[in-house]
Amino acid sequence: MALPPGFLEELRQRTPLPALIGRRVRLARSGRQWKGCCPFHGEKTPSFFVYDDHYHCFGCGKHGDAITFTMESEGTGFMDAVERLAAEAGLEVPKPTPEAAEAERRRLDLIGVLDAAQAAYQRRLFLPEGRRALDYLRDRGLTEETIRRFGLGWSGESRGALSADLARQGVTAELLTAAGLMREDDETGHRYELFFNRVMFPIRDRRGRTISFGARVMGDGQPKYLNGPETDLFSKRANLYALDLAREGVRSAPLVVVEGYMDVIALHQAGFGAAVAPLGTALTEEQLGALWRLSPEPVMCFDGDAAGGRAAARAAELVLPMLAPDRTIRIATLPPGEDPDTLVTKAGRSAFQTVLDNARPLADALYDLLRAAGGEATPEARAALLQRLDAAARRILDRALAQEYRAALRSKFYAARRMARGGGPVARPIPRPPASAHSTAGERARILTAILLRHPDLLADVDHAYAGLELPPSLAVVRDAVRNWVENVEILDSQALIDHLTMSGLQSHVAQVLAAAPVPLPACAASIAMPAEALQGWWHIFGFLNLERLRDEVAAAERDFARDCSPETQRRHIALKDALNKVMAGEPDGAELAA
Ligand code: UTP
Ligand code: MN
Repeated sequence: MALPPGFLEELRQRTPLPALIGRRVRLARSGRQWKGCCPFHGEKTPSFFVYDDHYHCFGCGKHGDAITFTMESEGTGFMDAVERLAAEAGLEVPKPTPEAAEAERRRLDLIGVLDAAQAAYQRRLFLPEGRRALDYLRDRGLTEETIRRFGLGWSGESRGALSADLARQGVTAELLTAAGLMREDDETGHRYELFFNRVMFPIRDRRGRTISFGARVMGDGQPKYLNGPETDLFSKRANLYALDLAREGVRSAPLVVVEGYMDVIALHQAGFGAAVAPLGTALTEEQLGALWRLSPEPVMCFDGDAAGGRAAARAAELVLPMLAPDRTIRIATLPPGEDPDTLVTKAGRSAFQTVLDNARPLADALYDLLRAAGGEATPEARAALLQRLDAAARRILDRALAQEYRAALRSKFYAARRMARGGGPVARPIPRPPASAHSTAGERARILTAILLRHPDLLADVDHAYAGLELPPSLAVVRDAVRNWVENVEILDSQALIDHLTMSGLQSHVAQVLAAAPVPLPACAASIAMPAEALQGWWHIFGFLNLERLRDEVAAAERDFARDCSPETQRRHIALKDALNKVMAGEPDGAELAA
């Protein structure tokens, strides 16, 4: 077979496997994949699974891709299967030519060279000379398992180490240059190695073959990362860091796009096995296509600062034309000053989970980005904003979806105007702060409500106490709506709750609960607070409002824990006990701290 490089890859990508197989096998959805009775061996209960790009039978072990499926099920040879699939995909099978054969051979050569380079770098990392690099990686919190999983390595102190290693395997300088590991000086024709004195990060294609490297200085040197050049194998625009791992990981973790290599690695180590990153450039269309083949709604993660906002705007700009009902993104924002690596290293897995939980639908994020671009202080600015909103919706090529976006963006615009004029989203009067609102008791009740809006999953723990709390009318209305909502949904997501309250005409109530006035909310009421911190804060504040009730809750939790020593009952018991101790010790709570 001498098809040009990349053709089969493209053919596979253009052939939706569930549709192809679904013609011969009755398939039913099973989570992200499809499931049916195996066509290759007689069975009555389905053990045949179809994924986006391969199938696997857990009964007879048969597995493969679109091409092997066609070969097996039609009894055809390889080239026939390719011809048939290409015709369906609207691709022309290129004529096998000697040049194509030569190019394919070269590609295989280059894959071999990069594989050998990766092995050499990795070996060096674990030699005494690699000690400093290994310590560097360990100091950054990576376990040996992670270091090996990502194939990290050490380049050697100075130029020449790699060529010397690979020369023994017959790899020439010419091949190393074609593989992007050496560079030829235009004037002198002299060849020199690109990477030395750096920690090596293999960049792999979606099938896990090393196609290039990123290389980091240890410490503060510049440039921080060097990346390999474009070669016959490596295209920055078409690949994503750790896409090979994400294809597996996406079965149990959300597909997340972050900025840096170290972010990806730290996230994988923390259990987010479907984190990927572009390769030092802004996201491209091709990369989005690759993401959507794994998930209909990848989450893009951006820094909380101005640069992060600009990056989010660029990403939104890029995706708009490509959006479809089953192809969108969500936008997550990191706490200021943190990247995913520092966040999980400092604050653990749940801190990043909170960031993901607060990821916003594209339409919401888009509205804010467009508003931020010009404000809405004057009639001119508002008219310009409306134009930008409509223009953004028009960029969506899917007609029905474009209309939905136009309507959604406009309705946000008008809702914001009604708010600005002092009306609620429906004809509900804005709740006047009750007389007690500035008193500490009123403030405490507000904070307790705010914590639950940010962390609705705590309701399971506190519902009993919350239900019995004396609240001013505007907070009681919110409580009724929240408790109602909890009865009717399965996933307790903060943004979903806030959206629900907004839709129910309680937007201004919510705004009041979450406002930074009369005093800023305490840390335990922030979205970014750990669940345990939020829960403890809740009980602590509650204790100042109703000490007797807190005592009852502690006693009940103690009994529950004695009866059933589960992590749940233990967690609850500890949170309540701690809160009671704090109240008894007179430790100030969120309301006083904030005041
Ligand atoms: P960051 O500076 O955020 O990298 O750049 P990082 O992964 O968090 O690195 P650490 O934590 O300081 O080690 C994000 C990405 O931009 C590219 C790399 O792909 C990097 O992962 N980059 C950055 C470069 O290509 N060259 C550079 O000099 C810097
Ligand atoms: Mn970093």
